[in-house]
Amino acid sequence: MADTRARKTFRSQEWFDNPNNPGMTALYLERYQNQEYTRDELQGNRPIIGIANSGSDLAPCNKIHVFLMDRIKAGIRDGGGIPMEFPVHPIQETGKRPTAALDRNLAYLGLVEVLHGYPIDGVVLTTGCDKTTPAMLMGAATVDLPAIALNGGPMLDGWWKGKRAGSGTIIWESRRLLAEGKIDYDEFIARACASAPSLGHCNTMGTASTMNAMAEALGMTLTGASAIPAPFRERMAMAYETGRRIVAMVHEDLKPSDILTREAFENAIVTNGAIGGSTNAPPHLQAIARHAGVALDVFDWEKVGYDVPLLLNMQPAGEFLGESFFRAGGVPAVMGELANAGRLHGGCRTASGKTLGEALEGIESVDTEVIRTYDAPLRANAGFKVLSGNLFESALMKTSVISEDFRRRFLSRPGEENVYEGRAVVFEGPEDYLDRINDESLAIDEESMLFIRGVGCVGYPGSAEVVNMQPPDALIRAGVNHLPTVGDGRQSGTSESPSILNASPESVVGGGLAYLQTGDRVRLDLNESRLDALVDEAEWEARRESWAQPEITHQTPWQEIYRTHVGQLGDGGCLELATAYQRIVKDLPRD
Ligand code: FES
Ligand code: MG
Repeated sequence: MADTRARKTFRSQEWFDNPNNPGMTALYLERYQNQEYTRDELQGNRPIIGIANSGSDLAPCNKIHVFLMDRIKAGIRDGGGIPMEFPVHPIQETGKRPTAALDRNLAYLGLVEVLHGYPIDGVVLTTGCDKTTPAMLMGAATVDLPAIALNGGPMLDGWWKGKRAGSGTIIWESRRLLAEGKIDYDEFIARACASAPSLGHCNTMGTASTMNAMAEALGMTLTGASAIPAPFRERMAMAYETGRRIVAMVHEDLKPSDILTREAFENAIVTNGAIGGSTNAPPHLQAIARHAGVALDVFDWEKVGYDVPLLLNMQPAGEFLGESFFRAGGVPAVMGELANAGRLHGGCRTASGKTLGEALEGIESVDTEVIRTYDAPLRANAGFKVLSGNLFESALMKTSVISEDFRRRFLSRPGEENVYEGRAVVFEGPEDYLDRINDESLAIDEESMLFIRGVGCVGYPGSAEVVNMQPPDALIRAGVNHLPTVGDGRQSGTSESPSILNASPESVVGGGLAYLQTGDRVRLDLNESRLDALVDEAEWEARRESWAQPEITHQTPWQEIYRTHVGQLGDGGCLELATAYQRIVKDLPRD
Protein backbone atom coordinates (compact mmCIF):
# COMPACT_ATOMS: atom_id res chain seq x y z
CA MET A 1 0.00 0.00 0.00
CA ALA A 2 1.37 3.43 -0.92
CA ASP A 3 2.19 5.67 2.00
CA THR A 4 0.29 8.87 1.39
CA ARG A 5 1.23 10.43 4.72
CA ALA A 6 3.46 13.20 3.44
CA ARG A 7 0.89 14.50 0.99
CA LYS A 8 -2.27 14.22 2.99
CA THR A 9 -4.18 16.98 4.67
CA PHE A 10 -6.61 15.66 7.19
CA ARG A 11 -10.05 16.98 7.88
CA SER A 12 -9.04 17.97 11.41
CA GLN A 13 -6.57 20.49 9.96
CA GLU A 14 -9.58 22.56 8.85
CA TRP A 15 -10.04 23.24 12.55
CA PHE A 16 -6.49 23.31 13.82
CA ASP A 17 -4.51 24.83 10.98
CA ASN A 18 -6.52 27.27 8.90
CA PRO A 19 -4.56 30.48 8.20
CA ASN A 20 -7.64 31.90 6.41
CA ASN A 21 -9.41 32.13 9.75
CA PRO A 22 -6.81 32.69 12.46
CA GLY A 23 -9.41 33.75 15.02
CA MET A 24 -11.27 30.47 14.94
CA THR A 25 -8.11 28.42 14.58
CA ALA A 26 -6.71 30.06 17.69
CA LEU A 27 -9.88 29.30 19.62
CA TYR A 28 -9.78 25.67 18.59
CA LEU A 29 -6.08 25.39 19.39
CA GLU A 30 -5.90 27.14 22.75
CA ARG A 31 -8.70 25.09 24.28
CA TYR A 32 -7.38 21.75 23.12
CA GLN A 33 -3.84 22.76 24.05
CA ASN A 34 -4.88 23.52 27.60
CA GLN A 35 -5.26 19.83 28.19
CA GLU A 36 -2.67 17.34 27.07
CA TYR A 37 -2.23 18.31 23.41
CA THR A 38 0.66 20.46 22.09
CA ARG A 39 0.54 22.76 19.08
CA ASP A 40 2.89 20.38 17.29
CA GLU A 41 0.50 17.52 17.79
CA LEU A 42 -2.55 19.46 16.67
CA GLN A 43 -0.91 21.12 13.66
CA GLY A 44 1.39 18.25 12.78
CA ASN A 45 -0.98 16.85 10.17
CA ARG A 46 -1.44 13.65 12.10
CA PRO A 47 -4.87 11.99 12.13
CA ILE A 48 -7.03 12.89 15.10
CA ILE A 49 -8.74 9.69 16.17
CA GLY A 50 -11.95 9.93 18.17
CA ILE A 51 -12.68 7.17 20.63
CA ALA A 52 -16.39 6.85 21.26
CA ASN A 53 -16.46 5.58 24.84
CA SER A 54 -19.71 3.80 25.59
CA GLY A 55 -18.61 2.66 29.05
CA SER A 56 -19.68 4.33 32.28
CA ASP A 57 -21.09 3.54 35.70
CA LEU A 58 -24.54 3.65 34.12
CA ALA A 59 -23.47 1.22 31.39
CA PRO A 60 -21.88 -1.76 33.20
CA CYS A 61 -21.97 -4.01 30.14
CA ASN A 62 -19.56 -1.55 28.49
CA LYS A 63 -17.65 -0.44 31.61
CA ILE A 64 -14.58 -2.45 30.59
CA HIS A 65 -13.92 0.18 27.93
CA VAL A 66 -13.03 2.66 30.68
CA PHE A 67 -10.08 0.35 31.39
CA LEU A 68 -9.30 -0.38 27.74
CA MET A 69 -8.91 3.31 26.87
CA ASP A 70 -5.21 3.33 27.79
CA ARG A 71 -4.47 0.49 25.40
CA ILE A 72 -6.55 1.99 22.59
CA LYS A 73 -4.78 5.33 23.02
CA ALA A 74 -1.36 3.66 23.13
CA GLY A 75 -2.14 1.93 19.85
CA ILE A 76 -3.29 5.18 18.26
CA ARG A 77 -0.13 6.99 19.43
CA ASP A 78 2.15 4.21 18.24
CA GLY A 79 0.32 4.25 14.92
CA GLY A 80 1.06 7.95 14.56
CA GLY A 81 -2.34 9.40 15.45
CA ILE A 82 -3.66 11.64 18.21
CA PRO A 83 -6.39 10.08 20.37
CA MET A 84 -9.38 12.07 21.63
CA GLU A 85 -11.84 10.20 23.79
CA PHE A 86 -15.46 11.31 24.08
CA PRO A 87 -18.56 9.90 25.80
CA VAL A 88 -21.49 8.16 24.17
CA HIS A 89 -25.01 8.40 25.54
CA PRO A 90 -25.38 5.28 27.73
CA ILE A 91 -27.59 2.49 26.40
CA GLN A 92 -27.72 -0.10 29.16
CA GLU A 93 -30.10 -2.90 28.27
CA THR A 94 -30.77 -3.75 31.90
CA GLY A 95 -30.87 -0.21 33.22
CA LYS A 96 -32.77 2.10 30.92
CA ARG A 97 -36.52 2.53 31.21
CA PRO A 98 -38.82 2.19 29.41
CA THR A 99 -36.44 0.44 27.01
CA ALA A 100 -32.82 0.71 25.95
CA ALA A 101 -34.10 0.32 22.41
CA LEU A 102 -35.61 3.81 22.63
CA ASP A 103 -32.10 5.20 23.07
CA ARG A 104 -30.39 3.41 20.18
CA ASN A 105 -31.47 6.18 17.85
CA LEU A 106 -30.63 8.88 20.39
CA ALA A 107 -27.07 7.62 20.81
CA TYR A 108 -26.91 7.34 17.03
CA LEU A 109 -27.92 10.99 16.64
CA GLY A 110 -25.41 12.09 19.25
CA LEU A 111 -22.60 10.19 17.58
CA VAL A 112 -23.43 11.58 14.15
CA GLU A 113 -23.32 15.10 15.53
CA VAL A 114 -19.98 14.53 17.28
CA LEU A 115 -18.30 12.88 14.31
CA HIS A 116 -19.56 15.53 11.93
CA GLY A 117 -19.01 18.59 14.07
CA TYR A 118 -15.64 17.95 15.73
CA PRO A 119 -12.10 17.71 14.35
CA ILE A 120 -12.06 13.94 13.94
CA ASP A 121 -10.41 12.03 11.09
CA GLY A 122 -11.27 8.50 12.14
CA VAL A 123 -13.01 6.81 15.04
CA VAL A 124 -12.81 3.77 17.29
CA LEU A 125 -16.34 2.71 18.19
CA THR A 126 -16.41 0.96 21.54
CA THR A 127 -19.33 -1.44 21.56
CA GLY A 128 -20.74 -4.10 23.85
CA CYS A 129 -24.27 -4.16 25.22
CA ASP A 130 -27.02 -4.88 22.71
CA LYS A 131 -27.91 -1.52 21.17
CA THR A 132 -24.52 0.10 21.57
CA THR A 133 -23.17 -1.79 18.57
CA PRO A 134 -25.89 -0.92 16.05
CA ALA A 135 -26.07 2.68 17.32
CA MET A 136 -22.39 3.18 16.60
CA LEU A 137 -22.33 1.38 13.27
CA MET A 138 -25.39 3.35 12.17
CA GLY A 139 -23.63 6.59 13.09
CA ALA A 140 -20.41 5.61 11.37
CA ALA A 141 -22.40 4.65 8.26
CA THR A 142 -24.19 8.01 8.15
CA VAL A 143 -21.03 10.07 8.57
CA ASP A 144 -18.71 7.76 6.59
CA LEU A 145 -15.47 8.61 8.36
CA PRO A 146 -12.94 5.76 8.66
CA ALA A 147 -14.25 3.73 11.60
CA ILE A 148 -13.42 0.52 13.40
CA ALA A 149 -15.42 -1.26 16.09
CA LEU A 150 -14.00 -2.75 19.27
CA ASN A 151 -16.28 -4.50 21.70
CA GLY A 152 -15.56 -4.99 25.37
CA GLY A 153 -16.03 -8.73 25.15
CA PRO A 154 -18.34 -11.07 27.01
CA MET A 155 -18.15 -11.67 30.76
CA LEU A 156 -16.44 -14.81 31.99
CA ASP A 157 -18.68 -17.87 32.04
CA GLY A 158 -21.20 -17.96 34.86
CA TRP A 159 -21.62 -21.10 36.96
CA TRP A 160 -24.40 -22.26 39.28
CA LYS A 161 -24.06 -25.52 41.19
CA GLY A 162 -21.61 -27.00 38.73
CA LYS A 163 -23.53 -26.01 35.60
CA ARG A 164 -22.91 -23.14 33.20
CA ALA A 165 -25.20 -20.24 34.01
CA GLY A 166 -25.66 -17.98 31.00
CA SER A 167 -26.70 -14.33 31.02
CA GLY A 168 -30.40 -13.89 30.56
CA THR A 169 -30.94 -17.51 29.67
CA ILE A 170 -30.80 -18.42 33.36
CA ILE A 171 -33.52 -15.87 34.05
CA TRP A 172 -35.97 -17.51 31.66
CA GLU A 173 -35.20 -20.93 33.16
CA SER A 174 -35.47 -19.59 36.73
CA ARG A 175 -38.80 -17.94 35.98
CA ARG A 176 -40.22 -21.35 35.13
CA LEU A 177 -38.70 -22.96 38.23
CA LEU A 178 -40.20 -20.18 40.35
CA ALA A 179 -43.61 -20.71 38.73
CA GLU A 180 -43.33 -24.44 39.44
CA GLY A 181 -42.47 -23.66 43.08
CA LYS A 182 -39.05 -25.37 42.80
CA ILE A 183 -37.02 -22.31 43.83
CA ASP A 184 -37.78 -19.22 45.89
CA TYR A 185 -37.21 -15.50 45.28
CA ASP A 186 -33.76 -15.46 46.92
CA GLU A 187 -32.50 -18.39 44.89
CA PHE A 188 -33.88 -16.73 41.77
CA ILE A 189 -31.71 -13.66 42.47
CA ALA A 190 -28.67 -15.76 43.43
CA ARG A 191 -28.89 -17.75 40.20
CA ALA A 192 -29.07 -14.55 38.14
CA CYS A 193 -26.06 -12.98 39.91
CA ALA A 194 -24.03 -16.16 39.41
CA SER A 195 -24.43 -15.71 35.66
CA ALA A 196 -22.58 -12.35 35.78
CA PRO A 197 -19.15 -13.04 37.35
CA SER A 198 -17.05 -10.25 35.79
CA LEU A 199 -17.10 -7.11 33.69
CA GLY A 200 -18.21 -7.63 30.13
CA HIS A 201 -21.43 -8.02 28.16
CA CYS A 202 -23.74 -11.06 28.20
CA ASN A 203 -21.82 -14.33 27.96
CA THR A 204 -24.58 -16.05 26.01
CA MET A 205 -25.23 -15.64 22.29
CA GLY A 206 -27.72 -12.94 23.19
CA THR A 207 -28.05 -9.69 21.34
CA ALA A 208 -24.70 -8.32 22.54
CA SER A 209 -22.54 -11.23 21.38
CA THR A 210 -24.69 -11.43 18.26
CA MET A 211 -24.30 -7.79 17.31
CA ASN A 212 -20.57 -7.84 17.98
CA ALA A 213 -20.28 -10.95 15.82
CA MET A 214 -22.29 -9.04 13.20
CA ALA A 215 -19.83 -6.13 13.38
CA GLU A 216 -17.02 -8.62 12.76
CA ALA A 217 -18.91 -10.45 10.00
CA LEU A 218 -19.59 -7.12 8.30
CA GLY A 219 -15.87 -6.43 8.33
CA MET A 220 -16.00 -3.52 10.78
CA THR A 221 -13.56 -4.99 13.35
CA LEU A 222 -10.18 -6.62 13.32
CA THR A 223 -10.33 -10.36 12.70
CA GLY A 224 -11.14 -12.25 15.87
CA ALA A 225 -12.02 -9.16 17.88
CA SER A 226 -15.52 -9.93 19.05
CA ALA A 227 -15.41 -13.17 21.07
CA ILE A 228 -12.47 -12.42 23.41
CA PRO A 229 -13.79 -12.38 26.99
CA ALA A 230 -13.59 -8.96 28.60
CA PRO A 231 -10.99 -9.74 31.32
CA PHE A 232 -8.57 -11.68 29.06
CA ARG A 233 -5.18 -10.20 28.17
CA GLU A 234 -6.02 -10.80 24.50
CA ARG A 235 -8.75 -8.18 24.90
CA MET A 236 -6.16 -5.56 25.87
CA ALA A 237 -3.93 -6.58 22.98
CA MET A 238 -6.92 -6.27 20.63
CA ALA A 239 -7.63 -2.78 22.00
CA TYR A 240 -4.05 -1.76 21.21
CA GLU A 241 -4.10 -3.28 17.71
CA THR A 242 -7.44 -1.64 16.98
CA GLY A 243 -5.98 1.73 17.95
CA ARG A 244 -2.98 1.22 15.70
CA ARG A 245 -5.11 0.04 12.83
CA ILE A 246 -7.55 2.96 12.73
CA VAL A 247 -4.67 5.33 12.05
CA ALA A 248 -3.67 3.27 9.04
CA MET A 249 -7.29 3.18 7.92
CA VAL A 250 -7.35 6.98 7.88
CA HIS A 251 -4.19 7.01 5.75
CA GLU A 252 -5.77 4.47 3.41
CA ASP A 253 -9.09 6.37 3.49
CA LEU A 254 -10.86 3.06 4.16
CA LYS A 255 -14.38 4.10 5.04
CA PRO A 256 -17.59 2.33 6.13
CA SER A 257 -18.94 2.77 2.59
CA ASP A 258 -16.04 0.62 1.32
CA ILE A 259 -16.87 -2.13 3.82
CA LEU A 260 -20.64 -2.06 4.31
CA THR A 261 -21.77 -3.45 0.97
CA ARG A 262 -24.74 -5.66 0.15
CA GLU A 263 -22.37 -8.65 0.10
CA ALA A 264 -21.10 -7.79 3.58
CA PHE A 265 -24.68 -7.79 4.90
CA GLU A 266 -25.31 -11.16 3.27
CA ASN A 267 -22.19 -12.47 5.03
CA ALA A 268 -23.58 -11.16 8.31
CA ILE A 269 -26.98 -12.81 7.76
CA VAL A 270 -25.34 -16.17 7.02
CA THR A 271 -23.06 -15.84 10.04
CA ASN A 272 -26.02 -15.00 12.26
CA GLY A 273 -27.69 -18.28 11.31
CA ALA A 274 -24.54 -20.28 12.03
CA ILE A 275 -24.08 -18.75 15.49
CA GLY A 276 -27.76 -19.04 16.44
CA GLY A 277 -27.89 -15.26 16.71
CA SER A 278 -30.52 -13.03 18.22
CA THR A 279 -33.83 -12.03 16.64
CA ASN A 280 -32.74 -8.47 17.35
CA ALA A 281 -30.12 -8.71 14.62
CA PRO A 282 -32.53 -8.19 11.70
CA PRO A 283 -33.84 -4.77 12.79
CA HIS A 284 -30.35 -3.62 13.79
CA LEU A 285 -28.71 -4.76 10.56
CA GLN A 286 -31.60 -3.29 8.61
CA ALA A 287 -30.97 0.05 10.32
CA ILE A 288 -27.23 -0.07 9.61
CA ALA A 289 -27.91 -0.99 5.97
CA ARG A 290 -30.38 1.84 5.53
CA HIS A 291 -28.00 4.42 6.96
CA ALA A 292 -25.28 3.00 4.69
CA GLY A 293 -27.59 3.24 1.68
CA VAL A 294 -27.53 -0.53 1.07
CA ALA A 295 -30.68 -2.25 -0.25
CA LEU A 296 -31.72 -4.91 2.25
CA ASP A 297 -35.11 -5.94 3.58
CA VAL A 298 -36.44 -8.20 6.27
CA PHE A 299 -37.39 -10.94 3.78
CA ASP A 300 -33.71 -11.22 2.80
CA TRP A 301 -33.19 -12.95 6.16
CA GLU A 302 -35.20 -15.97 5.06
CA LYS A 303 -33.98 -15.86 1.44
CA VAL A 304 -30.28 -15.55 2.23
CA GLY A 305 -30.07 -17.17 5.63
CA TYR A 306 -32.85 -19.63 6.47
CA ASP A 307 -31.04 -22.75 5.27
CA VAL A 308 -27.81 -21.96 7.15
CA PRO A 309 -26.96 -24.72 9.64
CA LEU A 310 -26.34 -24.02 13.31
CA LEU A 311 -22.61 -24.48 13.93
CA LEU A 312 -22.13 -22.82 17.30
CA ASN A 313 -23.05 -24.77 20.42
CA MET A 314 -23.68 -21.79 22.69
CA GLN A 315 -26.62 -20.80 24.87
CA PRO A 316 -29.47 -20.13 24.26
CA ALA A 317 -29.54 -22.42 21.19
CA GLY A 318 -26.82 -24.72 22.60
CA GLU A 319 -24.94 -25.39 25.83
CA PHE A 320 -21.63 -23.46 26.07
CA LEU A 321 -20.82 -19.81 26.86
CA GLY A 322 -18.38 -17.13 25.73
CA GLU A 323 -15.12 -18.59 27.05
CA SER A 324 -15.62 -21.83 25.13
CA PHE A 325 -16.63 -19.92 22.02
CA PHE A 326 -13.42 -17.90 22.18
CA ARG A 327 -11.24 -20.97 22.76
CA ALA A 328 -12.87 -22.78 19.86
CA GLY A 329 -11.82 -19.96 17.54
CA GLY A 330 -14.59 -17.37 17.88
CA VAL A 331 -16.25 -15.71 14.92
CA PRO A 332 -13.35 -16.37 12.46
CA ALA A 333 -13.67 -20.12 13.07
CA VAL A 334 -17.41 -20.05 12.37
CA MET A 335 -16.86 -17.89 9.31
CA GLY A 336 -13.96 -20.10 8.22
CA GLU A 337 -16.29 -23.11 8.21
CA LEU A 338 -18.87 -21.09 6.25
CA ALA A 339 -16.25 -19.86 3.79
CA ASN A 340 -15.01 -23.41 3.16
CA ALA A 341 -18.59 -24.38 2.38
CA GLY A 342 -18.84 -21.54 -0.13
CA ARG A 343 -21.40 -19.61 1.91
CA LEU A 344 -19.56 -16.28 2.17
CA HIS A 345 -18.52 -13.51 -0.20
CA GLY A 346 -14.74 -13.64 0.28
CA GLY A 347 -14.01 -10.50 -1.70
CA CYS A 348 -15.48 -8.10 0.86
CA ARG A 349 -13.08 -5.56 2.31
CA THR A 350 -12.57 -5.54 6.06
CA ALA A 351 -11.18 -3.10 8.58
CA SER A 352 -8.12 -5.35 8.89
CA GLY A 353 -7.01 -4.20 5.44
CA LYS A 354 -7.41 -7.70 4.08
CA THR A 355 -10.35 -9.08 2.17
CA LEU A 356 -12.55 -11.39 4.17
CA GLY A 357 -11.23 -14.37 2.25
CA GLU A 358 -7.63 -13.42 3.04
CA ALA A 359 -8.46 -12.81 6.69
CA LEU A 360 -10.09 -16.25 7.05
CA GLU A 361 -7.37 -18.13 5.20
CA GLY A 362 -6.58 -21.39 7.01
CA ILE A 363 -8.88 -20.63 9.96
CA GLU A 364 -11.27 -23.34 11.13
CA SER A 365 -12.82 -24.64 14.32
CA VAL A 366 -10.34 -25.58 17.04
CA ASP A 367 -12.94 -27.48 19.06
CA THR A 368 -15.70 -29.12 17.06
CA GLU A 369 -17.81 -29.77 20.13
CA VAL A 370 -18.27 -26.02 20.45
CA ILE A 371 -18.01 -24.94 16.81
CA ARG A 372 -19.19 -27.71 14.52
CA THR A 373 -18.07 -28.20 10.98
CA TYR A 374 -20.45 -27.27 8.19
CA ASP A 375 -21.04 -30.93 7.35
CA ALA A 376 -21.86 -31.97 10.91
CA PRO A 377 -23.95 -29.11 12.31
CA LEU A 378 -26.06 -29.05 15.45
CA ARG A 379 -29.15 -28.39 13.40
CA ALA A 380 -30.16 -27.64 9.83
CA ASN A 381 -32.09 -24.51 8.83
CA ALA A 382 -31.00 -22.30 11.71
CA GLY A 383 -31.91 -18.99 10.08
CA PHE A 384 -35.11 -17.03 10.58
CA LYS A 385 -38.49 -17.56 9.01
CA VAL A 386 -40.07 -14.28 7.98
CA LEU A 387 -43.83 -14.67 8.28
CA SER A 388 -46.64 -12.58 6.88
CA GLY A 389 -50.43 -12.75 6.87
CA ASN A 390 -53.45 -10.70 7.88
CA LEU A 391 -51.97 -9.84 11.29
CA PHE A 392 -48.81 -8.15 10.00
CA GLU A 393 -46.73 -7.59 6.88
CA SER A 394 -43.67 -9.17 8.45
CA ALA A 395 -42.65 -10.95 11.64
CA LEU A 396 -39.68 -13.12 12.54
CA MET A 397 -39.43 -16.58 13.95
CA LYS A 398 -36.20 -18.24 15.11
CA THR A 399 -37.11 -21.82 14.34
CA SER A 400 -33.74 -23.15 15.51
CA VAL A 401 -34.83 -22.81 19.13
CA ILE A 402 -38.07 -24.77 18.72
CA SER A 403 -37.70 -27.62 21.21
CA GLU A 404 -38.45 -31.23 20.39
CA ASP A 405 -41.24 -31.09 22.94
CA PHE A 406 -42.77 -28.05 21.22
CA ARG A 407 -42.50 -29.67 17.80
CA ARG A 408 -44.11 -32.86 19.04
CA ARG A 409 -46.97 -31.06 20.76
CA PHE A 410 -47.76 -28.39 18.23
CA LEU A 411 -46.20 -28.95 14.87
CA SER A 412 -46.47 -32.67 14.22
CA ARG A 413 -50.14 -33.39 13.64
CA PRO A 414 -50.46 -36.14 11.03
CA GLY A 415 -50.94 -34.59 7.58
CA GLU A 416 -50.33 -31.09 8.96
CA GLU A 417 -46.64 -30.98 9.80
CA ASN A 418 -45.41 -27.50 10.66
CA VAL A 419 -48.96 -26.25 10.97
CA TYR A 420 -50.59 -25.14 14.18
CA GLU A 421 -54.12 -23.97 14.79
CA GLY A 422 -55.23 -22.55 18.07
CA ARG A 423 -57.19 -20.01 20.02
CA ALA A 424 -55.85 -16.49 20.45
CA VAL A 425 -55.50 -14.91 23.88
CA VAL A 426 -54.62 -11.23 23.58
CA PHE A 427 -52.78 -9.04 26.08
CA GLU A 428 -52.42 -5.24 25.92
CA GLY A 429 -48.78 -4.97 26.95
CA PRO A 430 -46.70 -6.62 29.69
CA GLU A 431 -48.62 -5.15 32.64
CA ASP A 432 -51.86 -6.66 31.33
CA TYR A 433 -50.06 -9.96 30.74
CA LEU A 434 -48.73 -10.06 34.33
CA ASP A 435 -52.16 -9.13 35.72
CA ARG A 436 -54.12 -11.72 33.81
CA ILE A 437 -51.92 -14.63 32.74
CA ASN A 438 -53.10 -16.77 35.67
CA ASP A 439 -56.73 -15.67 35.32
CA GLU A 440 -58.67 -18.90 34.86
CA SER A 441 -61.51 -17.19 32.98
CA LEU A 442 -59.13 -16.81 30.01
CA ALA A 443 -59.20 -20.61 29.73
CA ILE A 444 -55.62 -20.78 28.48
CA ASP A 445 -54.76 -24.36 27.57
CA GLU A 446 -52.36 -26.27 25.34
CA GLU A 447 -54.29 -25.10 22.29
CA SER A 448 -53.80 -21.41 23.03
CA MET A 449 -51.59 -18.91 21.28
CA LEU A 450 -50.57 -15.91 23.38
CA PHE A 451 -50.52 -12.47 21.73
CA ILE A 452 -49.11 -9.23 23.09
CA ARG A 453 -49.58 -5.87 21.38
CA GLY A 454 -48.89 -2.21 21.93
CA VAL A 455 -45.22 -3.00 22.52
CA GLY A 456 -43.65 -1.91 19.23
CA CYS A 457 -41.48 1.12 18.47
CA VAL A 458 -44.31 3.66 18.76
CA GLY A 459 -46.41 1.75 21.25
CA TYR A 460 -44.02 1.07 24.10
CA PRO A 461 -42.00 3.25 23.08
CA GLY A 462 -38.82 1.76 21.64
CA SER A 463 -40.25 -1.77 21.34
CA ALA A 464 -40.05 -3.98 24.41
CA GLU A 465 -38.53 -7.44 24.84
CA VAL A 466 -41.67 -9.05 26.16
CA VAL A 467 -42.98 -11.38 23.48
CA ASN A 468 -41.50 -14.53 25.06
CA MET A 469 -44.40 -14.81 27.50
CA GLN A 470 -44.48 -17.90 29.66
CA PRO A 471 -47.65 -19.97 30.04
CA PRO A 472 -49.83 -19.76 33.17
CA ASP A 473 -48.25 -21.36 36.26
CA ALA A 474 -50.77 -24.20 36.22
CA LEU A 475 -49.78 -25.20 32.67
CA ILE A 476 -46.08 -25.08 33.57
CA ARG A 477 -46.75 -27.34 36.54
CA ALA A 478 -48.49 -29.67 34.10
CA GLY A 479 -45.31 -29.76 32.00
CA VAL A 480 -46.17 -27.23 29.26
CA ASN A 481 -43.12 -24.96 29.21
CA HIS A 482 -43.94 -23.07 26.03
CA LEU A 483 -47.00 -21.87 24.22
CA PRO A 484 -46.69 -20.19 20.84
CA THR A 485 -46.38 -16.45 21.42
CA VAL A 486 -46.77 -13.55 19.01
CA GLY A 487 -46.28 -9.83 19.33
CA ASP A 488 -45.30 -6.48 17.88
CA GLY A 489 -42.41 -6.18 20.35
CA ARG A 490 -39.17 -8.10 20.50
CA GLN A 491 -37.69 -10.70 22.78
CA SER A 492 -34.35 -10.91 24.49
CA GLY A 493 -31.66 -12.57 22.40
CA THR A 494 -30.95 -14.75 25.42
CA SER A 495 -34.40 -16.33 25.25
CA GLU A 496 -34.77 -19.81 23.82
CA SER A 497 -38.42 -19.19 23.00
CA PRO A 498 -39.58 -19.67 19.39
CA SER A 499 -41.76 -16.56 19.50
CA ILE A 500 -43.17 -14.80 16.47
CA LEU A 501 -42.04 -11.26 17.01
CA ASN A 502 -41.12 -7.87 15.60
CA ALA A 503 -44.56 -7.90 13.94
CA SER A 504 -44.72 -4.90 11.64
CA PRO A 505 -46.62 -2.70 11.32
CA GLU A 506 -47.34 -2.62 15.03
CA SER A 507 -50.85 -2.47 16.44
CA VAL A 508 -50.88 1.16 17.61
CA VAL A 509 -50.33 2.39 14.07
CA GLY A 510 -53.12 0.15 12.78
CA GLY A 511 -51.29 -3.09 11.97
CA GLY A 512 -53.43 -6.23 11.76
CA LEU A 513 -52.70 -7.29 15.34
CA ALA A 514 -54.88 -4.38 16.46
CA TYR A 515 -58.04 -6.17 15.23
CA LEU A 516 -57.45 -9.53 16.87
CA GLN A 517 -59.70 -10.57 19.78
CA THR A 518 -59.35 -13.20 22.46
CA GLY A 519 -61.17 -16.28 21.24
CA ASP A 520 -60.34 -15.84 17.54
CA ARG A 521 -58.91 -18.91 15.81
CA VAL A 522 -55.42 -18.43 14.42
CA ARG A 523 -53.41 -20.58 12.03
CA LEU A 524 -49.62 -20.77 11.79
CA ASP A 525 -48.28 -22.44 8.66
CA LEU A 526 -44.50 -22.66 8.65
CA ASN A 527 -44.50 -24.34 5.25
CA GLU A 528 -46.01 -21.18 3.76
CA SER A 529 -44.40 -18.75 6.23
CA ARG A 530 -47.83 -17.42 7.23
CA LEU A 531 -49.76 -16.59 10.35
CA ASP A 532 -53.40 -15.60 9.94
CA ALA A 533 -56.41 -14.88 12.08
CA LEU A 534 -59.22 -17.12 10.79
CA VAL A 535 -61.80 -14.36 10.91
CA ASP A 536 -64.05 -13.77 7.92
CA GLU A 537 -63.25 -10.78 5.81
CA ALA A 538 -66.40 -8.76 6.40
CA GLU A 539 -65.97 -9.09 10.16
CA TRP A 540 -62.25 -8.21 9.91
CA GLU A 541 -63.10 -5.13 7.82
CA ALA A 542 -65.76 -4.06 10.32
CA ARG A 543 -63.24 -4.30 13.16
CA ARG A 544 -60.75 -2.29 11.15
CA GLU A 545 -63.31 0.46 10.49
CA SER A 546 -64.35 0.77 14.11
CA TRP A 547 -60.77 0.79 15.39
CA ALA A 548 -59.48 3.95 17.06
CA GLN A 549 -55.80 4.54 17.78
CA PRO A 550 -55.12 4.19 21.51
CA GLU A 551 -54.06 7.36 23.27
CA ILE A 552 -50.30 7.78 23.53
CA THR A 553 -48.68 9.68 26.40
CA HIS A 554 -45.11 10.89 26.07
CA GLN A 555 -43.06 11.16 29.25
CA THR A 556 -40.01 12.95 27.85
CA PRO A 557 -39.32 15.23 24.87
CA TRP A 558 -37.21 12.51 23.28
CA GLN A 559 -40.11 10.03 23.44
CA GLU A 560 -42.22 12.49 21.46
CA ILE A 561 -39.49 13.17 18.90
CA TYR A 562 -38.81 9.43 18.60
CA ARG A 563 -42.45 8.46 18.15
CA THR A 564 -42.95 11.21 15.58
CA HIS A 565 -40.14 10.00 13.36
CA VAL A 566 -39.56 6.30 14.04
CA GLY A 567 -40.38 3.64 11.46
CA GLN A 568 -41.34 0.02 12.07
CA LEU A 569 -39.13 -2.84 13.26
CA GLY A 570 -39.41 -4.53 9.87
CA ASP A 571 -37.67 -1.45 8.45
CA GLY A 572 -35.07 -1.28 11.19
CA GLY A 573 -36.89 1.07 13.57
CA CYS A 574 -34.91 4.00 12.18
CA LEU A 575 -35.62 7.67 12.51
CA GLU A 576 -37.00 7.76 8.99
CA LEU A 577 -35.82 11.28 8.22
CA ALA A 578 -32.27 10.37 9.23
CA THR A 579 -31.95 7.73 6.53
CA ALA A 580 -31.83 10.50 3.92
CA TYR A 581 -28.51 11.76 5.33
CA GLN A 582 -25.67 9.73 3.87
CA ARG A 583 -21.90 10.09 3.73
CA ILE A 584 -22.19 13.49 5.34
CA VAL A 585 -18.47 13.73 6.10
CA LYS A 586 -17.97 15.24 2.67
CA ASP A 587 -19.78 18.42 3.77
CA LEU A 588 -17.77 20.24 6.41
CA PRO A 589 -19.87 22.12 8.99
CA ARG A 590 -19.57 25.93 9.05
CA ASP A 591 -16.67 27.37 10.96
FE1 FES B 1 -25.92 -5.69 28.31
FE2 FES B 1 -26.70 -8.30 27.80
S1 FES B 1 -27.61 -6.80 29.08
S2 FES B 1 -25.02 -7.19 27.12
MG1 MG C 1 -32.13 -7.59 25.64
